[in-house]
Amino acid sequence: MKNYHKNIIILASGNGTNAINIINHFSNKNTLSDSDLFNISIKALVCNNLDAPVINKVKNINNDIKLCCIPFNKTAERILFEEELSGIVDEYKIDYIILAGFMKILSDDFVLKNLNKIINIHPSLLPAFKGKNAIKDAFDYGVKVTGVTVHFVIPAIDSGPIILQEPVFIEESDTVEFLEEKIHKLEHKIYIKALEIVLLEKIKIVDNKVKIFE
Ligand code: GAR
Repeated sequence: MKNYHKNIIILASGNGTNAINIINHFSNKNTLSDSDLFNISIKALVCNNLDAPVINKVKNINNDIKLCCIPFNKTAERILFEEELSGIVDEYKIDYIILAGFMKILSDDFVLKNLNKIINIHPSLLPAFKGKNAIKDAFDYGVKVTGVTVHFVIPAIDSGPIILQEPVFIEESDTVEFLEEKIHKLEHKIYIKALEIVLLEKIKIVDNKVKIFE
């Protein structure tokens, strides 16, 4: 019997729809099959923005997830944020750090110390439309296809080995708000799928490319 026990933490900055979706999904899932034990323990939700709606959403979910609010808005606050974050990663023996709408940039040192352990979701088909406004940027550019990318984090913005990517077609009748809705809907599906692949150890990173095997 294989025991896929993994400890994870989630980092979020805002609305937290991806964070809540991940919490709901993995909190209800302990057994994958009769022969394998699948147990994902979400140890903490770390939020850098004290006004973020995600904080109350997590409070309202009845579970054992520790809620850690560590202010990090200005770059100067990053050192303390990462010190506390590293403390949590060590204390709870965290296997993966999941960025779910985490809108700050982690230092190269922190990323290198946790290489192949930090996973991010981005609302475009990377490497196109990096940055904070990926959905609007793609819409304004007039591309016909954009999408969602889940990737490992490396010390460069919105870059790193891609785990999964799926397209979203932009129709002429779409508004930017409707495109946002379509992207968020896909994000909720694809993030769970990508995380299951990683947490079940179905990947290998070779030459910066993620190989998925059964
Ligand atoms: C999501 O669309 C996520 O892909 C994006 O922020 C949004 C957060 O929504 N992340 C980035 O742009 C990272 N560069 P949520 O708070 O409702 O999950």
